[in-house]
Amino acid sequence: MTQVVPGITPHGGQLIQRIATPAERQEFLAQADHLPRVQLDERAFSDLVMIAIGGFSPLNGFMGQADYESVVDDMRLANGLPWSVPITLSVSEEVAEPLKEGGWVRLDDAQGRFVGVLELTQKYRYNKVHEATNVYRTDEEQHPGVAVVYAQGPINLAGPIWLLQRDAHPLFPSYQIDPIVSRQQFADRGWKTVVGFQTRNPIHRAHEYIIKCALETVDGLFLHPLVGATKSDDIPADVRMRCYEIMLEHYFPQDRVILAINPSAMRYAGPREAIFHALIRKNYGCTHFIVGRDHAGVGNYYGTYDAQHLFDEFKPEELGILPMKFEHAFYCTRTQSMASTKTSPSSPEERIHLSGTKVRELLRKGELPPPEFSRPEVAAELIRAMRSDSEVAAV
Ligand code: ADX
Repeated sequence: MTQVVPGITPHGGQLIQRIATPAERQEFLAQADHLPRVQLDERAFSDLVMIAIGGFSPLNGFMGQADYESVVDDMRLANGLPWSVPITLSVSEEVAEPLKEGGWVRLDDAQGRFVGVLELTQKYRYNKVHEATNVYRTDEEQHPGVAVVYAQGPINLAGPIWLLQRDAHPLFPSYQIDPIVSRQQFADRGWKTVVGFQTRNPIHRAHEYIIKCALETVDGLFLHPLVGATKSDDIPADVRMRCYEIMLEHYFPQDRVILAINPSAMRYAGPREAIFHALIRKNYGCTHFIVGRDHAGVGNYYGTYDAQHLFDEFKPEELGILPMKFEHAFYCTRTQSMASTKTSPSSPEERIHLSGTKVRELLRKGELPPPEFSRPEVAAELIRAMRSDSEVAAV
């Protein structure tokens, strides 16, 4: 089902909606006990949700072989539309074997709850090393995104999906703002230009700086932290959300910001994920998207500005969302402010570099991130969360 929606055109033309209608839901529930089952892991479940709410428009299901291969090889769907990351449902031989193409498959979440239906149109094998090398630019298993690909089953199940129902998010119900709603909220506020910000780290001052630089030139900010699966040493989403709330309360004009959760899972695919992140925000109605240093990177797999360069390989009109590219921001001790080499006369020894990785390292040592890193209220919250975490671990 598709519908006319406010705001910029979604990727591919229409905002996909694949949440079962009450009648469809009744039909699926009536069949539930007779359908073959596939259990989704956390990432596959969040992909199911993202497809259903239109975050992954124009996808209406898990990718078939033609789209998959075209995306892996050329960063485009089979019809030529830019798309940079495969969205696949991978299962073992044993799970795939009894499933019949043309039939329905019941999708259960990791807790065994019936959450969706797949109309199985195709089962196909794929080459994991080829996917890793093209999408992640490495075949090393140490890369957290590659590790997921290597660990998953060898057969992809493809076809349109339905989400049985859209449940409230268990932790952040008030921040669950789906694309259809965010678009309406932008329209209600009269925002013609909206910049989307992806993040998976506690908000630090370099984030604040680039966000505010962007906010100087557009009508509104869509602060859109990712709360789906992340690697185990990333700061948990509930702690990060409290940090964003603190920032909004003390440091941002609240009428110019909408804070919402992005339910999808991190891939750590660097440049390709930056394109993917931008297309998702386009579907939420953003016109601009922030791409800073080493966007969605991990370790030393990607160059600092590789993600920014990848945007240049597409025509702006085929992406349909404008990247706002930012240099590596730092605290400049000479001017006593946040800056980058574009705005600061400082020499390298006058620059304090900040990153989510550094903040995590300090916290692990029990040290308070300094004011050049984090606003004090955010630093206090991070330390508080760290302490209560270790208290829990010590019990
Ligand atoms: S990411 O994996 O979601 O990209 P993170 O939350 O750290 O990680 O980054 C969010 C956004 O801020 C990304 O666009 C990233 O490039 C940008 N960013 C993070 N730190 C800096 C910095 N010091 N200077 C410039 N941009 C930064």
